[in-house]
Amino acid sequence: MAVWALIGFMGCGKSSIGRTAAKMLGVAFIDLDEEIVRRCGKSIPEIFSAIGEAGFRAIERETLAELLSRKGKAQLPSDILLSLGGGTLTDEGSRELVKKNCKCIYLRATVETLAANLRWEGEAASRPMLAGADPKAPAESPDSLESRIASMMAARGPVYEKAADIILDIDGLDYSDVARQILNCFSGK
Ligand code: S3P
Repeated sequence: MAVWALIGFMGCGKSSIGRTAAKMLGVAFIDLDEEIVRRCGKSIPEIFSAIGEAGFRAIERETLAELLSRKGKAQLPSDILLSLGGGTLTDEGSRELVKKNCKCIYLRATVETLAANLRWEGEAASRPMLAGADPKAPAESPDSLESRIASMMAARGPVYEKAADIILDIDGLDYSDVARQILNCFSGK
């Protein structure tokens, strides 16, 4: 199985789906954001406010490189399901690391699905890249979550698609359905 990475925009469910799928597959699950938080002893918003996006991307790249270099050694099994951050692949160095070491499953969703997931329990507030977007604004307003997601997805969508070995369209599915689809990918169904 080696390292399978879940990729996709914020709010597509990479962490929750990955955790469920890894349990079903009986493999280790690693969330890159959690590794970064552990390594820095700070939350993601704290890291962004201290060193900005470029600083965060450098830490994200270092954390990813360090993690992949431990693969198959004492503390880390060689079969891993790894949830990346929504912006990991925007960094060239991280993208190269992923290309060399991982197979990618893209959890693809429409702007509406992503916005609905991010609105759920105020999830958008914990994402610095969405700062300034107003979760209460109507979708057509330039400040809305939908407008922000649409403009970021215009740049990121092609990057996810290019990196993907498998694309799963997740609109209308609940997380356990998607986890089962991931399982089917592995059993070749
Ligand atoms: C980011 C996504 C976040 C986290 C950071 C930056 C992004 O991860 O890495 O806030 O640029 O899209 P999730 O996709 O898990 O929310």
